[in-house]
Amino acid sequence: MRVTKEELKQLIKNKLHKAGLTESHADTAADVLVFADARGIHSHGSMRVEYYSERIAKGGINTNPNFQFEKTGPCSGVFHADGGNGLVAAKEAMKEAIAIAKENGVAIVGVENMSHSGAISYFTEQAADEDLVALSVTLSDPMVVPFGGSEPYYGTNPIAFAAPSSDGRKITLDMATTVQAWGKILYARSKNESIPDSWAVDANGNPTTDPHKVNALLPISGPKGYGLMMMVDVLSGILLGLPFGNKVTSMYNDLTEYRKLGQLHIVINPSYFTDLNQFKQNITQTMADLNNIKPAPGFSKVLYPGQNNDEVIEKYEKDGIDIVDDIYEYLVSDVVHNNKYDNKDPFAE
Ligand code: NAI
Repeated sequence: MRVTKEELKQLIKNKLHKAGLTESHADTAADVLVFADARGIHSHGSMRVEYYSERIAKGGINTNPNFQFEKTGPCSGVFHADGGNGLVAAKEAMKEAIAIAKENGVAIVGVENMSHSGAISYFTEQAADEDLVALSVTLSDPMVVPFGGSEPYYGTNPIAFAAPSSDGRKITLDMATTVQAWGKILYARSKNESIPDSWAVDANGNPTTDPHKVNALLPISGPKGYGLMMMVDVLSGILLGLPFGNKVTSMYNDLTEYRKLGQLHIVINPSYFTDLNQFKQNITQTMADLNNIKPAPGFSKVLYPGQNNDEVIEKYEKDGIDIVDDIYEYLVSDVVHNNKYDNKDPFAE
């Protein structure tokens, strides 16, 4: 099914509002989810609405949180999300980080006690839109075997980065520290497609191509991805005094409880380090240099990080956003949720 950005946002907003979010939180949450679908990150777009709606309806997301920003130093602060929606809390916290970085050159802002925050490049691009460079990391529920291990310990702990160029584009990296994000497994399930055997293992620790048999994911590049997961866990969990490692709450375990997740935004104001215009021109130059690298056999072009998503944005602007029919039918229906996710199984649909 193809839909316009505006229609998709309205449908998601209606559903989240009906589930219990305030109109304003539903609007922001819908914006973050459409951001993902609009650039082809379907694993973190409208596909998640029914899960969020069920969690909201069952009380596992605070619909009236007392958001508070505590400035803890000239360049630091903690955003207390009070069990509120992570998509909204992470955006509000980034606004605080942007204000500090504009004034003091750098900002490090933690978000504590929030729910899942979706495709986290939304927040780094929020800063890049203000001529700032940003990094963001967040906790995710334990579903990854550490290098050499047979039981899950860390989450898919993603890392996002964005920097502004001189022509309005941004160079963006947004990646789970697993070979693939869990949402990609869910997306493969929703489309009944198999997955490559390098993504995940089954209950016996053997590689699997069946998304329904996945019991744990694999880190990128063995011990290196495993080390990055550790880093994300320290920065967005231990640093903020939150549950960490395999104590991070599961996405599907108990939909009546707040999740207590954390996120850390690091924002750098380039003008405190170099000439801003030169910085932006050099980012544009980097993008052009990368595009001009001679492609390897089997490749038509070298893309800059994030360019694959930029190309999808252009395509969807012309043709409409492609979303799975079942998801569209759910979005246009009167149903808030189908009681599908609260099944105590950390690897639920
Ligand atoms: P991915 O593997 O699709 O892409 C990773 C990065 O590689 C992206 O920056 C992408 O632009 C870049 N890339 C892909 N193909 C490229 C190419 N041909 N040339 C140059 N660059 C290319 O992303 P992944 O790891 O599957 O993550 C998907 C989403 O899941 C992200 O938005 C992430 O934030 C989100 N996520 C969120 C979590 C949460 O708890 N909030 C947990 C895990 C992931």
